Amino acid sequence: MLLIPYPNGEVIQNPGLFVLGNAFSIAITKDTFGFASRQLKSWLTDTCNLTVTLAEPGHSSSIQFRESSGKLPKEGYSIYVSSTGCMLEAESAVGAFYAVQTFKQLIDARNGTIPCCEIHDSPSFSWRGLLLDATRTFCPLPEMFRLLDLASSLKLNILHWHLTDDQGWRLAIDGYPNLTNSSPQFYSKEDVRKVLSYASERNITIIPEIDMPGHFIAALASYPQFSCTGGPFSIPQGEGIFSELLCLGKEEALIFAKSVINEVCDLFPAPFIHLGGDEIPLIRWKECSDCQKKMKELGLKEEKELLRWFANTMAHVAKEKEKTIIFWDDSIDEHYDPSIVCQIWNPLRNERKTVGKRSLIMSNYFYTYLNLSHSIIPFRAAYRYGALLNGKTNRRSNIMGGEFLLWTEDIHTRKERDKHLFPRLVAGAETLWTDPSRLDWKRFSKSYKMCNERLFTSIVAQTRPFFANPPRLYCKIRRYLEYRRVRKNSKKSGITKL
Ligand code: ACM
Ligand code: ZN
Repeated sequence: MLLIPYPNGEVIQNPGLFVLGNAFSIAITKDTFGFASRQLKSWLTDTCNLTVTLAEPGHSSSIQFRESSGKLPKEGYSIYVSSTGCMLEAESAVGAFYAVQTFKQLIDARNGTIPCCEIHDSPSFSWRGLLLDATRTFCPLPEMFRLLDLASSLKLNILHWHLTDDQGWRLAIDGYPNLTNSSPQFYSKEDVRKVLSYASERNITIIPEIDMPGHFIAALASYPQFSCTGGPFSIPQGEGIFSELLCLGKEEALIFAKSVINEVCDLFPAPFIHLGGDEIPLIRWKECSDCQKKMKELGLKEEKELLRWFANTMAHVAKEKEKTIIFWDDSIDEHYDPSIVCQIWNPLRNERKTVGKRSLIMSNYFYTYLNLSHSIIPFRAAYRYGALLNGKTNRRSNIMGGEFLLWTEDIHTRKERDKHLFPRLVAGAETLWTDPSRLDWKRFSKSYKMCNERLFTSIVAQTRPFFANPPRLYCKIRRYLEYRRVRKNSKKSGITKL
């Protein structure tokens, strides 16, 4: 059967069909399945032109939801289709929602039939994410909702929301109202609550990222007193790695960091907060008398120890709010607090050194950076990421899952967004949901062709097959040149040792 992401359990196709009548009802057996059944009702009404009513629990109906009572994992579900009816079984609202995502793909909308079958499914990884950089290019709420719909239809369950960077601070913070002065568009707390509620119904946890102590110019433009030099600062145009950091030698700058973390922890219900920590040239701290004094007080010899002290201190602040911090892998070593989750991205870093026993989120540059051209990360490479993760998972059990990333320095419109995400995000989603032993590129490509137009009705563009999978030699050359470009930029910015 052609399904995306392919089920991670038994798929049995039986002879015969269930024919959707022109007037039928869906039975809901439990309040928590209400959202899933309403979603299915809208789909059947809008896409299959059927008249659908929702029946009260206990009434007979051609499509039923049933609670599995402890049989299935939280995100798992089973689907049973016979010629007389369909049963969607799940443990929780999440499982029911995912059952609906699969069920939609079973329906042949042209003639309203469903093949008789049995499907048992639950995810391979618990962390299945999309990173959206809403900083370089702001993402308005309707577009956020559209992306959440697309991501959830692919059974992704994490939206990593990159909210602050050199080029913008996109989140209102009550304690420091001037932070958003440098950003004409930003999210109010009310906006965030709307996104959280929309995401939560679709089983998506929103992970806020507040990038510190680097990638920080937008904050310093409003509060130059938190810098080493005192500023003034202006928002940089275009991409780059910049030297300006939060000054860790100034008490008010540390109070700032703690207050922001506390406020963000209170706003977002996720048990994690991402604090960035990537691409940090240490030159300003080296030259700053306040930072040097702080290092002396703490008995630290090198600036990279100051960075580690900052991460560990902030991990403690987050812990008091019962949250765990996530840090990019640039500087992480075994002396970082063991609770800190490490997100792997950096193509210049030897991954083995970073990891230790801590939990990991995988987002390797040459597989998951969907802002890069398809000639650097072709469609097939996004799919191959599953096999790579499997190899690593066999050796290490601390991999929580992975993310596919959309940085937006060069991506400004819905069309550009969709062209970068599609088709690669679909491949990526399957590699995070489906166990690598069940991945099959040929089946997947066929499924993608079949599902594509029916499933992703909101996409306005996608990269066509030939351009999505350019010739291998060409890709190899492009990847090599990209690697050199990243290395050169790191050197130029003063990050000599990674
Ligand atoms: C990153 O791309 N600097 C995480
Ligand atoms: Zn300083």
